[in-house]
Formats: sequence, C-alpha cells, structure tokens
Amino acid sequence: MAASFPAQRPRRLRTSSAMRELLAETRVGATDLIAPLFVREGIDEPQPIHSLPGVMQHTRESLRKEVRELRELGIPGVILFGIPKHKDAVGSGAYDPDGIVQLALRDLRDEVGGDVVLMADLCVDEYTDHGHCGIVDADGHVDNDATLDVYVKAALAQAAAGADVVAPSGMMDGQVGAIRAGLDGAGHIDTSILAYSAKYASALYGPFRDAVDVQIAGGGHRKGYQQDWRNAREALIEVEADIAQGADMVMVKPALAYLDVIAAVRARVDVPVAAYHVSGEYAMIKAAAENGWIDHDAVAFEHLTAIKRAGAQVILTYLARWFAETVSG
Ligand code: PBG
Repeated sequence: MAASFPAQRPRRLRTSSAMRELLAETRVGATDLIAPLFVREGIDEPQPIHSLPGVMQHTRESLRKEVRELRELGIPGVILFGIPKHKDAVGSGAYDPDGIVQLALRDLRDEVGGDVVLMADLCVDEYTDHGHCGIVDADGHVDNDATLDVYVKAALAQAAAGADVVAPSGMMDGQVGAIRAGLDGAGHIDTSILAYSAKYASALYGPFRDAVDVQIAGGGHRKGYQQDWRNAREALIEVEADIAQGADMVMVKPALAYLDVIAAVRARVDVPVAAYHVSGEYAMIKAAAENGWIDHDAVAFEHLTAIKRAGAQVILTYLARWFAETVSG
C-alpha cells in the first residue's frame, strides 16, 4: 500500500528566501517608527544614559542634529521628553513657555520645518519634585481634576511652541477631553492628540526613569492611576473613553507583554493605533546582546515585527535610529 502523505504542505511556501519575502504578511519600515528623544536643560554636552545604551540626554544643539539625521534616515516623527534644571511641586517646567521642551520644539520647527512630525509627551512627572504624574494633595494622592488644569496649560504651551501632536501620558480621567477643549479654545484646532490610552503600571519603565531623573515619592509606584497589568478589558474602556473625548490616535504601552491588548484595541477601533516599545524592553535586548546571549539585530527586528503584526501601525521605539540605519538603510 502506498504511503499516505498530508495534503497540506505548508513548508512548500518556505522553500526559498524569495518565496518567504513574497509571502510575508507583516513588513516593518522606518516610516512606521517614532523616535523618543530626551532633551536636558543646562548641559553643554550630550550625556549618555547608563541603562539605555546608545540613547542620550541631548543638549538643544545636539537634539537639532539628531532630528535632522533621523529625517534623512527616513524616520517620520519624534516624541520629546524634557529634563528641567529645577523641579517643583506642580511641574511648572511642563507649561513654562521657556521650559526645555517648548524651547526644543521651537528649535526643531526652525530646523526641519514640517518635514518631521513633532510630538511632545504631555505629563508632569519629569518636572515635579515628587515624581508623580500630577498634583499631589495633602494625603499624598494624585488629585485628578487639579492635574487636568496643569495638563491643559502644558498642551497650550506645547502647541504654541510648534508641537504637531501632544501625547498625554499621565492616565488622569478626562485628560483628553480637557486638553481638546483647551486646544480648541485657543485656536489650536490642528494640533492632534495621541492618547496613551492603555498605559500599564509596568516595571519596564525603569531605565526611562533614570533617563529623566525621576524617583517616585510615596511608595514609588503609579498603581493608583496607571492600569493593573492583570487586566485587559479595562484597556478597551480607556480607549473608547479617549476616542469619545477627541483622541486622534490611541496607544498601548508597553508593547511586547501586551500584544493581546494591541490586537484587541486594533479590532475594536478605527483610529490609528500606536504601541510604545519602552525603555525596559529596549534595555533587555541590549543587555542580553552585550553578554553574547542573543543576536541583537535579529531579536530587535523580530520584536518590532511582532508589535506591528499584533496591530500597531505606529511604534515608538528607541530602536528607531538603529532600524533606519541597519535594517532599512
Ligand atoms: C510619563 C512617561 C513614562 C514613560 C513615557 N511617558 C514614565 C512613567 O509612566 O513612569 C515611559 C517610557 C519608557 O519606559 O520608555 N511621562
């Protein structure tokens, strides 16, 4: 009797590199990526960030150069984070017209015109002396509604300085609606909002907090406002609330441990979906590769592709420059 063979032979479609290239469902390009960049007030030279190898705290001058080069490499957008010289209880550097991010936005608008999408992270944790993402009341709690007023002021300062996109990352209820109303009221109707809608209280933000010199007071966590990572469904509530309040794009953060959330959000809504491949995700690749335990380029490419495959059409990643130079360069 003749041996029986399976009718389906999926391996036929993997027989050559050309065949695999033809049939790949997901392709990541430099134009999918946004580079997060740090700019620090009061330094003369860029400073390396120990826990984020290859990422710098920029001076205003070195930031201009970096963004010009990223544009030449084909990266379509950047998101700025500021490190002020002085921090205070309300995070006034976040809305001061001469705050470091506002100065940097003006520099970049002058440097690259409209050729790069300029995004500004909209939060106060980098600017507060207690490290929380909002105004802390007498009991040490973050006061949601008092914080909204500060976010609106920051949005207006960022928009006036030239931000195309403001990206509220503080997870206060109602933040998108308050910011949208504030922007519209001041005539900034074309400034878009990228909402960090499903932002988890993740331990993967550790290296970022080194990058922006943040230590969180009162137990050192943000579990009172960021999402519990045991929950997926509330991400959909957050996303829908943000869209109802006027979010133009929504984000899931971090990325790799939340691919299920990215996929669920993608299935539910039709606005652009972004994902943030955060500092800890980047640092893990760098550290393992440094030890010779993984192949940096292969793992980095696999991770970014997985995030896109799950449904993110925009990826914020510290790998943006590497990708543009190495993979698509
Ligand atoms: C808040 C903010 C954080 C990150 C982006 N925006 C830190 C936090 O929520 O504690 C983290 C990004 C990363 O880890 O790469 N301004």
